[in-house]
Amino acid sequence: MGRAEKAKITDVLQIHQLVNSFANKGEMLARSLSEIYENIRDYFVVRQGKMVIACAALHISWSDLAEIKSLAVTEDSQAQGVGAELVEACLKEAREIGIPAVFCLTYQSAFFEKFGFIPRDKMELSRKVWTECYRCPKFPNCDEVALICRLEVGDHPGLVDWGRRPSPPSTQRSSSYRRGDRVAPRQRIFLCSRP
Ligand SMILES: CC(C)(COP(=O)(O)OP(=O)(O)OC[C@H]1O[C@@H](n2cnc3c(N)ncnc32)[C@H](O)[C@@H]1OP(=O)(O)O)[C@@H](O)C(=O)NCCC(=O)NCCS
Repeated sequence: MGRAEKAKITDVLQIHQLVNSFANKGEMLARSLSEIYENIRDYFVVRQGKMVIACAALHISWSDLAEIKSLAVTEDSQAQGVGAELVEACLKEAREIGIPAVFCLTYQSAFFEKFGFIPRDKMELSRKVWTECYRCPKFPNCDEVALICRLEVGDHPGLVDWGRRPSPPSTQRSSSYRRGDRVAPRQRIFLCSRP
């Protein structure tokens, strides 16, 4: 555990290659070098020696919403808990910054549900999210699934409680995934104030 660390500028070429190796197979969105350079502070990586074997980015969308993007683990390193560590690192950072909701757009919804992410209608996401969608080759026929994970960060001005699901009695954080968990904890979902 604890293999995820903040990316360095020297990781950009490897991140680019890793993400686009899956993008070329239609498994995730491609990223340009300039996008990765501009957003390098969003990225976490896992290394094996000098090799970047996995990456993920936490990108802040608005006061109450961030996105996990570009999660990729090399095929040789999959099924060893690396993806889970990167998601946990992103959620930890979101919690530390005080962001109460993290979403993702993905084909791997079952993976994200392990961390407390709950599927939502894409149309319910903040409009700020769509700025990137306009540049996607699949727009407007996006077939990725949107999921949101609510985090416990205390009071947050502007947060909208849609209140569609009752809260369980537990005060556990929603991302209480442990390796081996089969069922994601489901909690009341908050959606975000629209910019
Ligand atoms: C999806 C991906 C990130 C998972 O990473 P990983 O390192 O293999 O996953 P982990 O080993 O950390 O798995 C954690 C748990 O999720 C489960 N899991 C892994 N991939 C899964 C999937 N596709 N669907 C459902 N569950 C999955 C594992 O079985 C494990 O469960 P366990 O703890 O109960 O044993 C990785 O397969 C990948 O990079 N895929 C290609 C790129 C991609 O699709 N990225 C997502 C785009 S948003």
